[in-house]
Amino acid sequence: MSNPITPAGPEPVVTDTDPIPAPGNRIPTPTATPPDILRCAYMEIVVTDLAASRKFYVEVLDLVVTEEDEHTVYLRSFEEFIHHNLVLRQGPVAAVAAFSYRLRSPEDLDRAVAFYTELGCRVERRAEGYVRGIGDSVRVEDPLGFPIEFFYDVEHVERLAWRYELYTPGALVRLDHFNQVTPDVPRAVAHMEDLGFRVTEDIQDEAGTTYAAWMRRKPTVHDTAMTGGDGPRMHHVAFATHEKHNIIAICDKLGALRMSDVIERGPGRHGVSNAFYLYIRDPDGHRIEIYTQDYYTGDPDNPVVTWDVHDNQRRDWWGNAVVPSWYTDASLVLDLDGEPKPVLSRTDDSELEVTIGADGFSYTRKGDEAQGFKLGNTL
Ligand SMILES: [Fe+2]
Repeated sequence: MSNPITPAGPEPVVTDTDPIPAPGNRIPTPTATPPDILRCAYMEIVVTDLAASRKFYVEVLDLVVTEEDEHTVYLRSFEEFIHHNLVLRQGPVAAVAAFSYRLRSPEDLDRAVAFYTELGCRVERRAEGYVRGIGDSVRVEDPLGFPIEFFYDVEHVERLAWRYELYTPGALVRLDHFNQVTPDVPRAVAHMEDLGFRVTEDIQDEAGTTYAAWMRRKPTVHDTAMTGGDGPRMHHVAFATHEKHNIIAICDKLGALRMSDVIERGPGRHGVSNAFYLYIRDPDGHRIEIYTQDYYTGDPDNPVVTWDVHDNQRRDWWGNAVVPSWYTDASLVLDLDGEPKPVLSRTDDSELEVTIGADGFSYTRKGDEAQGFKLGNTL
């Protein structure tokens, strides 16, 4: 009922409605019913050195190999029962071939075809699937330029949840979310809402510019987030651990392997999502987040949290600065022919510029005179 709920309270502002208005340039809403999406299920990424990537994901991050051949490795997390959560495919250009979602029923594939056909998107369907372990699948180039896959039919494999003899200290137990870079966040959000996603958190400024938004189907903070920037590109794919200490164990292991330079940001506690996090980069520069302990969002009136872009605790609750590469670097995405999609520039303000650029600022307490990051910060 009240909106906002905490008008005079501290940042962030909590509301019970979507705080991101649909823009004038919005993508039309199809009359077709959208497919019922259960969750983000897997990402297919192209890697330029399959052996190096296999070593990183299997020997360093301890993902489980379901199946592999000369060109492809199919990986899953410890609690997963479907064939895979990540596909590594050898190719000439490091990029993302598919962001794949599982649908509630086989009939939802027909809905996906109708939904995107009405939008004039390129739509393909393969009864035999695009990758091993997955049957009837639809792939589209969505109106935002991303290669999106939908499927229901999938091979079940052993859920290793109880196989504690296989666990390692940094075990990755679930795929948690994707994060996409797109130039116009409100336009992307309106489209994703047409597809059935709900916003759980977002970052705005006082002028109403939206810098990022988190959206969910499953009852967590997100299945995907839209990050404002030059796109379409893939910002990161995130795997969950059970506990915070598992993330620290991954950091310790990377140090022991003299691989601390793959740590890009963190470990830390997010403001947005409240999760504990770590960002690392794979041998091709694809960004992986290790993430744990966000919160339940499944009620229909789940409160939406809006953060001020100048709040220095929004992206790191402890006030540690976001490194510039985290804002600027991202992976290319491929069209359905396997060609990299052209990248369009963001024209709205950039979060990097308004927070750590020459004229940017951030605060720890709203109203503070002093601006900037913590003592000793060199950014
Ligand atoms: Fe993330």
